Amino acid sequence: MRYTLPTLGSRSFGPLCIMHQMEVVELEPRPTNMDNRLSGASELSGLGRTLQSQRRSRPNQELGHAVGNTVAVFPDELDRILEKMVIVVPCKDEEVAVIRGVVAGIPSLCAVILVSNCSHRHGENGWEAQARMLAEFCAWGREGCFVHQKYSGAAEAFKSAGVHQIVDPVTKTIRNGKGEGMYLGIALARSYFPDRQYVGFIDADNRVPGAVTEYCKAYAGGFALVQRSSAKSGAELEDVMVRICWGSKPKYNSETGRVEFVKQGRSSRIVNRFLNKLFADQGQEGHDQDQEFITTGNAGEHAMTMDMALTMRMANGYSIEPYQYIEPLLRHCSASTCHGNNGGHKGKPTEPRRARILQIKTANPHFHRETDDNHILKMWAAGLGAIYHYLLPTRASIAASALDSTVITRLRDEMHRFAVKNGAITRTEELPRPRLYPSLDHADLDSFRDVLGEPNSGHDGSEGIGFYGIVDRTWSSDDLNSPTDRSVSEQESSEDDRRSSASSEEEVLSDTSKSC
Ligand code: GDD
Ligand code: MG
Repeated sequence: MRYTLPTLGSRSFGPLCIMHQMEVVELEPRPTNMDNRLSGASELSGLGRTLQSQRRSRPNQELGHAVGNTVAVFPDELDRILEKMVIVVPCKDEEVAVIRGVVAGIPSLCAVILVSNCSHRHGENGWEAQARMLAEFCAWGREGCFVHQKYSGAAEAFKSAGVHQIVDPVTKTIRNGKGEGMYLGIALARSYFPDRQYVGFIDADNRVPGAVTEYCKAYAGGFALVQRSSAKSGAELEDVMVRICWGSKPKYNSETGRVEFVKQGRSSRIVNRFLNKLFADQGQEGHDQDQEFITTGNAGEHAMTMDMALTMRMANGYSIEPYQYIEPLLRHCSASTCHGNNGGHKGKPTEPRRARILQIKTANPHFHRETDDNHILKMWAAGLGAIYHYLLPTRASIAASALDSTVITRLRDEMHRFAVKNGAITRTEELPRPRLYPSLDHADLDSFRDVLGEPNSGHDGSEGIGFYGIVDRTWSSDDLNSPTDRSVSEQESSEDDRRSSASSEEEVLSDTSKSC
């Protein structure tokens, strides 16, 4: 992958560092002389300076795609990340042929977890057929897992892990919602693929398998760049999230009879607008560029380091993605109470974990199922609610992130007025308050797995859970990857990665983002 560098640099807010969008400009690059030259650190710091001065002098101009303004990640480096990645695909009633296209686009080095909330079991598009389809893929050597969100064992497993709030007390099954499906996917990824260090998400209604391949490679390239940067600076690896902004979102216009390639989806436009006000460059609010700094507030397609996924609380339904911009801000620990990634537990003050968000614009457009206005209205209202209810100006953690409390108060009022004006709520109502699920590092995932069973236990999907081709190294006593040895070998392999990437290229990220 070849990316443009983030022309607007990055912005830090306490433990959260957000990078301006990079753009995929070449899917399969070949090394150029310039890329080779970039292996020297001195040229690179020069490049960083050039970029910064260009930014200052020509704030409204694009830097262009000259090779010096780009950075490339080559296939061997991508593969090293992809083989450590699990892709979770939340699905409902999509046709099996469409979901098959999504799985077909996921590089086969990645494990796949299909979390289905399909409304029916039988028939050519029922969940049994979804499970069989995944099993067929895995017969070609891929590792995979199918689970139905309403499988009673999954609810039991969460109860046994201590995560009672995700279980609906009436139906005794996991609650409906995309966020809930993703949370289940993360718990399965950690339990059944313990040696995989990244987890990504791809919607099941993507109509273009080639776009899915690009999303996965874009995730891997983003992680590779951060690894290079850490290797170069010697800084500890941080929590990293890569969020995708699609090349465009095609919409059929029945009046003109044409497909229009719009820049942002209807919900993204609204959520991004408010996040851009929140994360405006100090003193720059209202500047044109500030409208474009956050482009991925609603990114359904995103990936993160497994450590990050395990330490984040997750919001329900469609609020899960916008909330991911707020949760890292809540990581500050005061002397008496630890918020956020400490699951609300009292504890000793500790340094908050640092989180970096990369935004990557893909070359492919995003073709998916069209949804109606009411669906979109509920989606942006849920997204705004996730910001509104957890972004409280009085929180010590928010104050520590250097966000201005008067800006926050004004923003919350504005969000409320916007929701009233656009029919999401009445004047006396509040924006919807999302349910938060605890970070999974506070769950007993050993019990979770004990309830669901070993991957070789014969579960084939027909009862609601299936394991396919999984190499189970978790509890094998003579295996190097037994739980204790695994952490040693993980450290070693991540050291290897750091060493090899240290020699490979430059420190793009810190060059363009001194403040992070
Ligand atoms: N397992 C599971 N459980 N999957 C679900 C559920 C659920 O309850 N609800 C929805 N999904 C799956 C859908 O089947 C689909 O594959 C994916 O989640 C996205 O749902 P859509 O209904 O297609 O959402 P959208 O296209 O309107 O919105 C998408 O893009 C937004 C940004 O524009 C989603 O990814 C949003 O989360 C995102 O914010
Ligand atoms: Mg969709």
